[in-house]
Amino acid sequence: MKEYTNYSLLPYNTFGIDVKAASFIEYSSVEDLKNILSRDAFVSRPFLHIGGGSNLLFTTDYAGTILHSQMKGMEVVAEEGDSVYIRVSSGVVWDDFVAYCVSQGWGGAENLSLIPGEVGASAVQNIGAYGVEAKDLISQVETVEVATGSDRTFTNEDCCFSYRQSIFKNELKGRYIVTYVTYRLSKNPVFNLEYGNIRAELGKYGEVNLYTIRQSLIAIREDKLPDPKVEGNAGSFFMNPIIPRAQFEALQKVYEKMPFYVVDEERIKVPAGWMIDQCGWKGKVLGRVGVHNKQALVLVNKGGATGQDVIELSKAVQAAVKDKFGIEIRPEVNFI
Ligand code: EPU
Repeated sequence: MKEYTNYSLLPYNTFGIDVKAASFIEYSSVEDLKNILSRDAFVSRPFLHIGGGSNLLFTTDYAGTILHSQMKGMEVVAEEGDSVYIRVSSGVVWDDFVAYCVSQGWGGAENLSLIPGEVGASAVQNIGAYGVEAKDLISQVETVEVATGSDRTFTNEDCCFSYRQSIFKNELKGRYIVTYVTYRLSKNPVFNLEYGNIRAELGKYGEVNLYTIRQSLIAIREDKLPDPKVEGNAGSFFMNPIIPRAQFEALQKVYEKMPFYVVDEERIKVPAGWMIDQCGWKGKVLGRVGVHNKQALVLVNKGGATGQDVIELSKAVQAAVKDKFGIEIRPEVNFI
């Protein structure tokens, strides 16, 4: 276990915001975690559990305790027919898990290659890309209850997953800490290649297998999304709004080329990035922050930005989209 006071969070948020935490604790076992949760000093202050810091925007120094899991390890816990169940510790880097599955020939996670962050957060955020979401793979989520230190296992259904949502972000926010996630992969995977330009990119490799799909996804992401080591960012800054079908059909009469995804009979998801682009914000810079020039859904730190700079830009972008399309777009990134 590692403990620090007045600790810089610069390496722990991909936006590259320079703030400090009053207390920062990294633990490497469930036992250590329970020990921390029972301390008076912990109970008396606010806390925040972070993963890879790829979905956070720090707006000020953090006055409480930041927790980070250093629990590592992956273990196959069951095999049933074509399915492999693998139990992964919360602190494992998400893409290390994906790479491992691909190397073993287990399918399911390959479309989620190179998503930043850690395994614990994959269950909280229900991360997703290219037609696959973490919820499609998650079998169960093991947690520790903050108030009591007791263990609780959530089935996939218990987690109430939906687009970028789970019970851990909503009703149970701040009440449970994820310790292990068990995923179900397939030894005979059905590839999911219909989204965006996956097929076009795959064409460059000649063969379609888990490895070439992973390489294609990595190439697509690297081309469109800025490297946080070069320009701070948190991936998609906004969620894609889900709107009633009638509202979409009215918009489609005006904007014939508006891309969309059908959620169900009544609801349509529209890409916020496309709308921001249409508003002319793609590539625009506002002081120390800007809208990425290859993907308008991503806000970037041009160097030395504060959380407030990012908030101001995000408000201007939200207002432009509301004005042109009558749609509220909401941040996917969590403001702290
Ligand atoms: N588009 C534009 N201009 C832009 C950006 C997008 O016209 O600047 C258009 C695209 O041409 C496409 C549509 O908008 O027709 C959707 O764009 P894209 O496929 O790039 O996906 P997205 O909706 O912008 C979502 C996820 C991404 C994920 C991609 C691929 C959210 C909030 N974002 O983005 O996730 O990688 O789909 O599945 O759902 C992330 O969460 O950090 C993230 C990168």
